[in-house]
Amino acid sequence: MNSPVTTRAGTDFKILVLHGPNLNLLGTRETETYGRITLQQINAALQSVSDDLGVTLHIVQSNHEGNLIDALHESRLIVDGVLINPGAYTHTSVALRDAIAAVALPTVEIHLSNVYAREEFRHRSLTAPVCVGQISGFGWRSYILGLRAIVDHLGDRVPEASE
Ligand code: DQA
Repeated sequence: MNSPVTTRAGTDFKILVLHGPNLNLLGTRETETYGRITLQQINAALQSVSDDLGVTLHIVQSNHEGNLIDALHESRLIVDGVLINPGAYTHTSVALRDAIAAVALPTVEIHLSNVYAREEFRHRSLTAPVCVGQISGFGWRSYILGLRAIVDHLGDRVPEASE
């Protein structure tokens, strides 16, 4: 059956990767929860997968809510989708949630840890409801799964070329 849309990974999508507060300390921060991998290593892994998928990444880390919001605003007309680990702002930031909704870019939320297996205050995400979906609990691989998910999602939205 002919589908009106088709999956086309490698359609040269541009993806904004946003790392929120304290993620710059990965590798030394609460290693029993987040592992020993550094943010640089995660970015390198993302870069390698993005090369395979034929997509371009723009990577930003900030410990400041406003900087994360500015990065979303500035990327609004430049990127096709967003991969975000909002860190603790996941559970607190109405402003970040509003920014994700405002720019209306397909966004996948990711967490290294399984936030639902941790303290109760982490069980609520203010940002997930304005995202396409959420990936939580796979350590650094959450980022890789999230990248593949956003690229597949964007591919689904690309109309098939008419013959
Ligand atoms: C986190 C989970 C958050 O609850 C926490 O505040 C973080 C990291 C994760 O990736 O597991 O900073 O987003």
